[in-house]
Amino acid sequence: MQAWKDYQSENKDRFLEELLGLLRIPSVSADSKYKADVARCADAVKEHMLKAGCDTAEICPTAGHPIVYGEKIIDPKLPTVLVYGHYDVQPPDPLNLWTTGPFDPQIRDGKIYARGACDDKGQMFMHIKAIETMVKTNSQPCNIKIMIEGEEEVGSSNLGKFLEDNKERLKANIVLVSDTSMISMDSPSIESGLRGLTAVEIEVTGPNRDLHSGVYGGAVANPLNTLCKMVASLHDENGHITIPGFYDKVADLSAEERASINQAPFDLEEYKKELGIKETWGEKGYTTLERTGIRPTLDLNGIWGGYQGEGSKTVLPSKAQAKITMRLVPNQRPHEIGELFQKHFESIAPGYVTVKVTRGHGGEPVVTPTDSPAYKAAAKAIKTTFGKDPIPTRGGGSIPIVALFEKTLGLKTVLLGFGLDNDNIHSPNEKYDIFNYYKGIETIPYFHKYFAESAE
Ligand code: BES
Ligand code: MN
Ligand code: MN
Repeated sequence: MQAWKDYQSENKDRFLEELLGLLRIPSVSADSKYKADVARCADAVKEHMLKAGCDTAEICPTAGHPIVYGEKIIDPKLPTVLVYGHYDVQPPDPLNLWTTGPFDPQIRDGKIYARGACDDKGQMFMHIKAIETMVKTNSQPCNIKIMIEGEEEVGSSNLGKFLEDNKERLKANIVLVSDTSMISMDSPSIESGLRGLTAVEIEVTGPNRDLHSGVYGGAVANPLNTLCKMVASLHDENGHITIPGFYDKVADLSAEERASINQAPFDLEEYKKELGIKETWGEKGYTTLERTGIRPTLDLNGIWGGYQGEGSKTVLPSKAQAKITMRLVPNQRPHEIGELFQKHFESIAPGYVTVKVTRGHGGEPVVTPTDSPAYKAAAKAIKTTFGKDPIPTRGGGSIPIVALFEKTLGLKTVLLGFGLDNDNIHSPNEKYDIFNYYKGIETIPYFHKYFAESAE
């Protein structure tokens, strides 16, 4: 479509400037000190929806951060795509490892560096610019509804209710999400699955106060030592998780399915080099792509207690704490696995400490079909703009609401992501290639076109 190409090339500098503006707003959902910034970001997203040509766009308050919802309906008889994304971002810590400030977007070497550049402001904003392209060139092929939330990075716990309460309003034929990665721009790919997640927090308490580690050390258990030992016991020497029942429901893949996952281009030496590791680690009997795509995991995300300031302090801390998340695969249920964890962790607690397990948010794993008209429309859109057929992959990350799109709204999802695994999402120096940003804006209208055509 020449009109799309022309419109996008005429407006490309503004498309970039506008994204940088959004990236300057520190919309960190996890930390309440950013609450006003999160709200400000929601307003900015709403204004962008209206400017792009949506007929309606509104802020929908929730018990947490607001959802921004917009619509551009052209003909009720045409199919409707529901676009989903998130404007909230992960905390920027550790700040000292950023080359430039996380909320002071800078361009280096063709890449935009900022928290949220890829996850997900850069990617969700491609949809707003794609809508603008179609509206302003009078060529929107189907109806579009767009829902951009502010709590994805904290588990989307209020979005489920919004879906329940707005079933009619959210009626659509497919959900389209850009919040995942591709193998590379030379090997475009589409994720056909996401892992689920379940979060827990642990508190191990020993004596009723911090103690001098000379006066009491050796006679009273140290909660930090104990927590480390307990956590270490959660994996065996083969990288298997030791929680009884943890693997009971894990779907075993056929040899063909495993072979197809391993067909994706992957260079182990390059992978290690890029991460600065000498060896990979993981569950015995599985390749790296299988370990991240189809196998469940258990990881510490943080562990703390005792003295962490400069120099040393000889203390036997009263408490030790940890945050753990488990990535889940089909047919593991977040609630069941959380319960198994809690039961097991409490059962291995030695008598000399008190262990408290608090269960947190979660999300179900999903597999998206690769033989549906929607997937085929996405594949054809990529073929059009990349000149290559996309490779289906299984993604390791989680987007908790996707399972609820199916359960609550009866809708399948297409994961049309343009990030790269090394975009440093959730990490210092998050980036998004300007090339990927423009490529996404170029590709998305074709998805709408081919999807609408497939329904004719
Ligand atoms: N966009 C990511 C998920 C993702 C990243 C999927 C890369 C596939 C490839 C999303 O924003 C995310 O980080 N989700 C969280 C969910 C959690 C907080 C419930 C995750 O996966 O940790
Ligand atoms: Mn995301
Ligand atoms: Mn994220």
